[in-house]
Amino acid sequence: MYDFTGKVCLVTGGTSGIGLRVSERLIDAGAQLIVLGRDASKGQEVAQRLGERCLFVPCDVADAAQVEDVFQTIDRRYGLLDCAFNNAGVTARHAEVVESCAQDWDRVMAINISGTYNCMKQELRLMQAQGRHGAIVNTSSSAGVLPLAGQVAYSVSKQAINTMTQVASIENARFADGGCIRVNAVAPGPILGGMNTQERLLASPRNTQRKIDVTSMKRFGRADEVANAVLWLLSEQSSYVTGHILSVDGGYASGKF
Ligand SMILES: NC(=O)c1ccc[n+]([C@@H]2O[C@H](COP(=O)([O-])OP(=O)(O)OC[C@H]3O[C@@H](n4cnc5c(N)ncnc54)[C@H](OP(=O)(O)O)[C@@H]3O)[C@@H](O)[C@H]2O)c1
Repeated sequence: MYDFTGKVCLVTGGTSGIGLRVSERLIDAGAQLIVLGRDASKGQEVAQRLGERCLFVPCDVADAAQVEDVFQTIDRRYGLLDCAFNNAGVTARHAEVVESCAQDWDRVMAINISGTYNCMKQELRLMQAQGRHGAIVNTSSSAGVLPLAGQVAYSVSKQAINTMTQVASIENARFADGGCIRVNAVAPGPILGGMNTQERLLASPRNTQRKIDVTSMKRFGRADEVANAVLWLLSEQSSYVTGHILSVDGGYASGKF
């Protein structure tokens, strides 16, 4: 459906769940793909399966120096970047604010906020240097649209990603030479796989049922349904869309304002 032939695309957190599905879809659509993740053996396995157009680079996105090194590699090897999906993210143990722990707070902020910031900064630098074109999609969450009790760090981090997305979209929407880098986000609701492994869902049936009940469609979403939105936002089909936080949540947020 979408043609990314010859486009150089980056996916952070591309080794499982939503990021893996987006990576598979970009490869199917002809992209040259760079996948980032921390676990090198998982990453090499994914790269081998996706074939020669996929390069895995181990990287902790929370570490600004590692991210800078990766972008030097990308610049040397490809000389440009067309599309980026900043998707690496983690959640914290479910706890109300009074019982939440500072380590969880720091870890979620470091990976979700600083990780997205570190990557987006380098992506914009490369895209601006190469002629001011490109498309970036960040992964927010329905928890970044409507705050989620028991997930203070995660909710704050995803709201920060929404704001970061909008600031970068305004700054890069129109250059003097007519160029444009579009920056959008997807805000998934409960998605099967990834953070919602079968094992975790079976371990807490009440929580699983609650995740289903909060959606209007009364079901989990699939990674492929998020990938549909991401590929659209990365493609020229969405050429007049920037600064948008696109909910892919089975109607979780609708009617709750
Ligand atoms: N699943 C859902 O229901 C849902 C709903 C809303 C939003 N989201 C968001 O969607 C994104 C993906 O979630 P998912 O469910 O697909 O989770 P997942 O399967 O756990 O995938 C997370 C990915 O991020 C990578 N990652 C984590 N920390 C990283 C770091 N510091 N540096 C580089 N890579 C890192 C992981 O690989 P390594 O561990 O090897 O680094 C993995 O590839 C997250 O941002 C999440 O907040 C998910």
